[in-house]
This record gives sequence, structure tokens and C-alpha cells, in this order.
Amino acid sequence: MSYTGTFIDLFATTSIMNSALELADRTRRIEPFHVMELQKRAYALEKAGRSIIHMTIGEPDFTAPPPVVEALAQAMREQRSQYTAALGLPALRHAIADFYASRMGVTVAPERIVITAGASGALLLTIAALVNPGQEILMPDPCYPCNRHFVSAFEGSARLIPAGPGERFQLSAAVVRDNWTAATRGVLVASPSNPTGTSIAFDELRRIVEVVRERGGITIVDEIYQLLSYEGAPRSALELAEASGQDIIVINSFSKYFNMTGWRLGWLVAPGALVPVFEKLAQNLFICPSTLAQNAALACFGEPALAIYEERKAEFRRRRDFLVPALRDLGFGIPVEPDGAFYIYLDCSRFSEDSSAFADMLLEKAGVAVVPGHDFGLNQPERWLRVSYATSFAKLEEAVRRLARLLADWPRARPVAASPAGD
Ligand SMILES: Cc1ncc(COP(=O)(O)O)c(C=O)c1O
Repeated sequence: MSYTGTFIDLFATTSIMNSALELADRTRRIEPFHVMELQKRAYALEKAGRSIIHMTIGEPDFTAPPPVVEALAQAMREQRSQYTAALGLPALRHAIADFYASRMGVTVAPERIVITAGASGALLLTIAALVNPGQEILMPDPCYPCNRHFVSAFEGSARLIPAGPGERFQLSAAVVRDNWTAATRGVLVASPSNPTGTSIAFDELRRIVEVVRERGGITIVDEIYQLLSYEGAPRSALELAEASGQDIIVINSFSKYFNMTGWRLGWLVAPGALVPVFEKLAQNLFICPSTLAQNAALACFGEPALAIYEERKAEFRRRRDFLVPALRDLGFGIPVEPDGAFYIYLDCSRFSEDSSAFADMLLEKAGVAVVPGHDFGLNQPERWLRVSYATSFAKLEEAVRRLARLLADWPRARPVAASPAGD
């Protein structure tokens, strides 16, 4: 075909192409992460020679420890890389069940555990299985932004309920009761939370489960940061499911505590009756989670790996214990002590009425990258910044020094309001 012919063909097909590329409505309901733009600029500045401290990323700076890497290498050498069952390797489901028993004192039948492609895969399967078009899931605002998009991708809607420091940025039983409507299917909470690092008090979670249960709904608890809880032993919502019902789904992941973000592995624990439904969906949507990652993950539960994970958890705690008072000294408001994950939600209203512009300025002038509240909901996002301490202690110290220099005689300084947002 000549060049002329090619061009004519291209023009002739333009209108067909336009309709071919017409997007499904659901794509318009999914918003991009604003932080990606900020991150792009941070990397561009770094490439241009600036020193940038990245406190945006929600990913441990630690990677999989040696026993897990060795288990991967061994699985590769032994060619254990073909599809597994859609629900995951039986040995891994057993290992997770044993871990619940030994670490959290909860008995879970391995048959109820479904291995997924990260917590993301677990959230996707859960919403696909349980939410009909037009139904609502209640969530706190702020929350992990993808949660509302999982629901809207399946034609449901996320009802974001403003949650302030008074509720530890979480839902309460009273709020769930007040906001429940005929369209409500259930609630989705993450404890500890992204972006706030705060957990729901266990008694409050129990009350939430009761309110949801009375209304015939489902409680979905994302425990992806549960093993990074710094105050007391981590407790799973599965305790509540075992005691009095089968209406709780717990989601977890190898991404955070187990330092395996890019390996794409997680799990959910479902009521037994739902497992065949999850199996059917998983078979069709994913076939199975990554076989190599599953084989490697078996080593996560051995003593050598667990000892390393606990050391790293202690290091996260050390960073939090340094950063919270240091940021308060600089004039940021931290109305609730974060008790888990690796995030701090900062009230920056003493310095600015626009957290996005303020985050841009911190990047440009101090080389410190943090996430503005806009990514996490509509509840006064202009007031808040999310700081991640998943970076080295030395870099956190340097970040505090840079912020101190920049903010020393900040012109807009005013006292942080006595009654913070949503309280
Ligand atoms: C609260 C929460 N849930 C789920 C996820 C998804 O994690 P993954 O799919 O890597 O397991 C994240 C990731 O940051 C998160 O913060």
C-alpha cells in the first residue's frame, strides 16, 4: 500500500475511530491520583539535580527480606510457576490460617481464605460479589481513594461520611446508624487507616458490626496495615465474625507489613458460603494470583522472616515517635496520635488555606514531597496533608530541618483552630 493510500485510509477511519474510542461512562467516575502529578514534578526536579525527600509514597522503603527472596529463587529453580487454583495455593491458605491462630488468637478455616492480587484484587472481588448497581457503601472521609472507585466501577456508589479527629477520622456506630438508607449495602473501613494512620477502637468496631448486622448489611474491614499497629497487639475484625456471625469480610495484603508491594499478593477472609462465588469470579477475572509470589510468600511466616518484619515494624514506630513531636513543634496540627501504618495526617491551616498550593511550595522551596488532602476525599481537604514516613530516619531528620528553615518566619502563621475539621 502507498503512503497516500495509508493516509486516505487513516482519514476515512477517523470518525469510526472516534466512536471506537468512546469511553464507558464508568471511566468518568474514576479520578486520577493528584499525587501522581506532584510526584512527576518531584522526579523531574530530582533529575534536574535537586535533592528531594519523598514523603508521598505509601510503600515501605524495605523490600522483601532474604528468606522470601530465596524462596522465590527456589520456586523458580524448581519451575513452580504454572497456574495455581483460583483461590490460591492450599499451603499458603493454611499458613495464613495458622498465622491468625498464633499471632491473633483467631481460628479461621483455611477454606475461607482467598488469595488475591494484592488487597486491590480482594477489594475488587468483594465489591463485584456484593454490590448491585445503585447500592451504597458507607466510608469515612478521608479514606483510601481507590475504595470509592472500586464501588463506582460496579455501578454502586460510595457514600463518604465526614470523619474528623473526634472520631479518629473513622466511622462510628452512631454515624453508620444515622446514615443508613434503603440503598445501603454495607460499610468499608480501613483500620489503621490510609491517610491518617489511626485505628478504630475495637469496641467501636464491635458496635459498628452490630449496627450493620441489625440492618442485614456487610462489614468490610481492610486490615492491610493491621500488622503495623504500634499500640498493643494487633486485633482482627475476624474476632467479631467468629463470635456472632458471618457478615464480615476481612482484607489483607503482603504489600505493607510483608514489604512485597510489587509482588501483587493479598488475601481476603470471607464467610464460607461466599467462597464459591469468589472462586467463580477469581477464575474469570484473574485465573489465579501470581504463582511465584505465592510460593515465595510461604517464607513470610517462618521465624527468620518474621523476626526481620518485627525489627522493621519497630523502625517504623521509631520514625513515628520522632516525626509526630517534631512536626507539632514546627506548628502543624496533629490532633490524633496515629497508632499504625506509616502515615501522619497533618493540619497545615496554620500556614496556608490551600494544602495543594502549600504542598507545591514545600516541594519547590524545601524539596520535601508530601500529599495534599484532595486525594483522600471532600472533607476539608484544603486543610490537610498526608506525610508518609516510609523513608529512612536520616531523610526524615533532614526533612524536618528543611521545613524548620522554611517555616521559621512564615508570614501566614496563625494558631491552629481549636476545633479541627469534622470534630
Ligand atoms: C488502605 C489500603 N487498601 C488497599 C491498598 C492496596 O494495596 P495492595 O493492592 O498493594 O495490597 C492500599 C495501598 O496503598 C491501601 O492503602
